[in-house]
Amino acid sequence: MTLRVFITGGSSGIGFELARQYLESGAIVGITSRDASRLEYFGQRWPDRAVLLKADVRNMVSMKQAAALFLSLHGVPDLVYANAGISIGNLTWQEQDVPVFEEILDTNVTGMVRTFQPYIAAMRQRGEGKLVGIASIAGFRGLPGASAYSASKAAAICYLEGLRAELYDSGIRVITICPGYVDTPMTSENPYPMPFLVPVAKAASGIIRSVETGRLRYTFPWQMRGIGMLLRMLPDRLHAFLFSRAPHKPRRGD
Ligand SMILES: NC(=O)c1ccc[n+]([C@@H]2O[C@H](COP(=O)([O-])OP(=O)(O)OC[C@H]3O[C@@H](n4cnc5c(N)ncnc54)[C@H](OP(=O)(O)O)[C@@H]3O)[C@@H](O)[C@H]2O)c1
Repeated sequence: MTLRVFITGGSSGIGFELARQYLESGAIVGITSRDASRLEYFGQRWPDRAVLLKADVRNMVSMKQAAALFLSLHGVPDLVYANAGISIGNLTWQEQDVPVFEEILDTNVTGMVRTFQPYIAAMRQRGEGKLVGIASIAGFRGLPGASAYSASKAAAICYLEGLRAELYDSGIRVITICPGYVDTPMTSENPYPMPFLVPVAKAASGIIRSVETGRLRYTFPWQMRGIGMLLRMLPDRLHAFLFSRAPHKPRRGD
């Protein structure tokens, strides 16, 4: 049986590479972007197996339409990836950053909910399926200058935990992916060193392998997994002191 996969944010970075690798392996892949012209590469190379979908994870109607089209063409997907996400610096005392905070939370957290929601009834009926959320090690502790992003990824991790328990007896597996730094357009503008930066193709192949095994959480690379565990144990005062001089993610317009 041909694997069927649905991926949000397939126009760039991790989502693009996940889609490419699944298509290379023979899968049928539904790929979303807010601008369908950014998905032409897939349509040209795999016209019969790449389903190109214009959709915005901030808009429930558009996510329902994208899911309905995929379901009508290929049936219930085996895997649904909530990958689309944004990262922009923010500072709470800057009033113009408040809408940025809202945009990040809405895209990275509620966008995940809007991605999974249209598929859950059909997956439940089938008694199987995997829902994969791309969170981040940035969700382990608050990062200065990127508190909205950290908060969104911490929320995503907790959301996925809650969903996993809700679907415990349904046959649906909920999988949390926590990458460290991955070399994509999201990180290319970061004006600070990014330890253990992972090439995007390696990140995607690791995610695909891990999802195949069915493990519930995959944090990579292993060096950052270790650093993340240490960060979680830091007392609050020490965390604040150590991070007080950390460089910041650029804000919109910087
Ligand atoms: N790169 C890293 O180091 C890293 C580390 C940890 C976690 N992550 C997470 O991995 C995921 C992918 O990141 P990336 O590095 O691959 O970023 P990226 O290269 O900037 O790609 C982001 C993707 O998200 C899509 N997107 C953004 N807003 C959207 C919206 N409202 N509706 C639909 N799609 C939207 C974009 O598509 P369009 O603009 O075409 O719509 C694009 O395809 C994100 O959730 C990110 O937080 C990344």
